[in-house]
Amino acid sequence: MNSIGFGIIGCGMISQLHADALKEVEGAELRGIYDPVPGRAEDFAQKKGGTPYHDINVLLSDPAIEAVCICTPSGTHAELAVQVACAGKHVVVEKPMAITLGQLKQVENACNENHVKFCCISQLRFTRDYRLIREAVAEGKLGKLVCGDVYMKYYREPSYYAGSSWRGTLAMDGGGALMNQGIHGVDLLQSIMGPVKSVFARSRTLLHNIEAEDTLSAVLEYENGALGVIQATTSVCPGYSRKLEINGTQGSITLTEDRITSWDLADAPEHLAHPVESGIRTAGDPSALDAACHAAQLSDMVQAIRTDRSPLVDQKEGKKAVEIILAIYRSAQTGKPVELNDL
Ligand SMILES: NC(=O)c1ccc[n+]([C@@H]2O[C@H](COP(=O)([O-])OP(=O)(O)OC[C@H]3O[C@@H](n4cnc5c(N)ncnc54)[C@H](O)[C@@H]3O)[C@@H](O)[C@H]2O)c1
Repeated sequence: MNSIGFGIIGCGMISQLHADALKEVEGAELRGIYDPVPGRAEDFAQKKGGTPYHDINVLLSDPAIEAVCICTPSGTHAELAVQVACAGKHVVVEKPMAITLGQLKQVENACNENHVKFCCISQLRFTRDYRLIREAVAEGKLGKLVCGDVYMKYYREPSYYAGSSWRGTLAMDGGGALMNQGIHGVDLLQSIMGPVKSVFARSRTLLHNIEAEDTLSAVLEYENGALGVIQATTSVCPGYSRKLEINGTQGSITLTEDRITSWDLADAPEHLAHPVESGIRTAGDPSALDAACHAAQLSDMVQAIRTDRSPLVDQKEGKKAVEIILAIYRSAQTGKPVELNDL
């Protein structure tokens, strides 16, 4: 069977991981690269393969490219996703799917109208331990859900923001610690706990010289009646692994980055008898990522294209975390609780 040809738009930090991940995906091949900064696509192609393009429209009209990974600053995701979809190519967009409600709608409409597949990267949904938690909750093993919390106390050096034209800006990052780093935890949380009914939040910029928040605390009320807490910061030294805690009337589970670190339920999965510490070190280093989870998500995308089904994190799923974050930001701005239905 012929491989599906991929293009990559944006040749910065995360694009390297997409290129490495594509090498691991059966039935996928990196064919084209584009970045507006002169020389960047050429350098990237030399290291990672694929053909460098100087003009995005030429890449998008190449019939050998069937799907495109958008690896650009978050504020450009929606416009580029629409452009890619309108060119008839399948869309892979890095998180967040978009940074405003209007943009989410534009992306959804463009993909639906052009009949292309869409997936938004949320690579932590593709780990074994996340799946075990989701299954245990879905099977009712925790009893009635009581709390669903995420604690993300990360550290970013001031140079992380100072050295970037877009990080920490409202127009291009769409927010700070929550929209950029915290979104992973928000997405896992909502996919396990179910829809969020309302939020109340406070946010601050306590360390970094940025427009957006570097520290935020929110209280959540889920539609199923459970309550939750989200803490997201990039300002605490030295930075700690992200923890997700799911508690019910009959049991509790903690996920630390991508590993279950407590399973207080009957019937523990066999591998938990000899737990292995998470290899994810993004609490203090944004580039300390492993391509395996991206490869698993891109593999899901390839299967979705081949078998004409929806990818696991499609447009309907991808927008949920952004909607919750936008509700939290509105609450932090107004000082009032926000109902998700009122967005
Ligand atoms: N899934 C994850 O864990 C993860 C991790 C890091 C970053 N990200 C996401 O990936 C995206 C990119 O982050 P990064 O750290 O790689 O950024 P970066 O600044 O390192 O790279 C961005 C690249 O995009 C290029 N670019 C800018 N505007 C463009 C445009 N209009 N068209 C084409 N190229 C353009 C820049 O020249 C640059 O090379 C962000 O949305 C971020 O949230 C996701």
